[in-house]
Amino acid sequence: MIDTTIAGIPASELARDYGTPLVVYDLDEIDLAVDAFAGAFIERGITVGYAAKAFLCTALAEVLAATPLWLDVCSLGELRTAERGGFPARRIYFHGCGKTDEELAAIAAGRVAFGVVDNVEELARLAAIAGPANPASIALRINTGIEAHTHEYIRTAGDRTKFGVSLAEVPGMLARIAAEPALRLIGVHAHIGSQIAEIEPYRESLALLVREADAARALGLPVELLIPGGGMGVEESPGDAPPLDYAALAQAMTAAIEGTPFRLAIEPGRAVVARAGISLYRVMAIKVQGGRRFAIVDGGMADNPRPALYGAVHAFEVMTSAASAAPVDAVLCGRSCENDVLGSVAIPADVRAGDLVALRTTGAYTYSMASNYNRFGKPAVVFARDGSHRLVIRRETADDTIRNDIG
Ligand code: LLP
Repeated sequence: MIDTTIAGIPASELARDYGTPLVVYDLDEIDLAVDAFAGAFIERGITVGYAAKAFLCTALAEVLAATPLWLDVCSLGELRTAERGGFPARRIYFHGCGKTDEELAAIAAGRVAFGVVDNVEELARLAAIAGPANPASIALRINTGIEAHTHEYIRTAGDRTKFGVSLAEVPGMLARIAAEPALRLIGVHAHIGSQIAEIEPYRESLALLVREADAARALGLPVELLIPGGGMGVEESPGDAPPLDYAALAQAMTAAIEGTPFRLAIEPGRAVVARAGISLYRVMAIKVQGGRRFAIVDGGMADNPRPALYGAVHAFEVMTSAASAAPVDAVLCGRSCENDVLGSVAIPADVRAGDLVALRTTGAYTYSMASNYNRFGKPAVVFARDGSHRLVIRRETADDTIRNDIG
């Protein structure tokens, strides 16, 4: 009988106390990631902002508030979460390519240190909301045209994406900002993609940011911050080598701004939280149909949409089982009314309903992208460290799924 531990806690205990599906974060892994970014980047004077979209809840905001990290938020929901977690406004900045008036007002009111403006319409709206008596600090998001090799759906730069202002548009935008007393341009930004494993695209993007920032300063704009985005890739399985050497990346970035008046900030999301997360499921049925073996678990594309959306692969592990047979190929599926494949896995032939299994490295863009498809409630989230654990997001009940219904 195996009963694998997570952060020193038997999987059976976590499933018994909180039920399944369950997302468990090992806080030691978050500390390791923060330390890795601090050691490579903050030590070199590079600010590190965590991209909250990868995963945020009040308890994580509390944890991160006690680190040197900044926070990149892109919605009022993320901002409210940060505020409730006591994250200081001076270390938060606001992203997004379609900000509402309420979000622009939050920037103007100083609930964040600055906003990252994505387009010309937003520039005008923010200026009107802020007014010249109380200028809003902004960074300008530039689409440098540099694309890191990544899945099309998670591509966030390049000529074919919607994000930022094209290089051709930048001079016009800078002139507009220079003529606008309600805005103060303090930085330029470019995010070049996600799950990136190479240094070169960052170097190229940064060279363009330096050029545009120089042009802004020539107009008298007080630009000092260059943000070459996040996107640092992570390995699929624990034990694999990390795809990016942070020290080498930090060195390349520092070299790119040497002799300039600028300083740097990066904004990783995935690389801070992905490794810390594990999704725990209970097997509900094993069946063989059309020559294929299916293991159906009590989660699926609602709590873990990345395999269906991006073909993402997460390392699979049997956590509790009395199985002893040799592994056979199986399709790991969820319980939604779709062919919601979670992965192609090797699983002992005698794994039974009731056994616990897990997908690893699900700390990023998994809970944060979960939906209520089929009116399933979202899973619970637990923080664990060194044998102790606590609930940080409660499991949604069927009643939660109807709480906003009128009728
Ligand atoms: N900054 C900006 C402006 C971003 O758009 C993103 C991610 C990040 C930072 C953080 O990127 P990261 O370090 O996490 O790669 N849902 C997809 C990923 C979408 C990324 C969107 N933007 C996935 O599950 O793979």
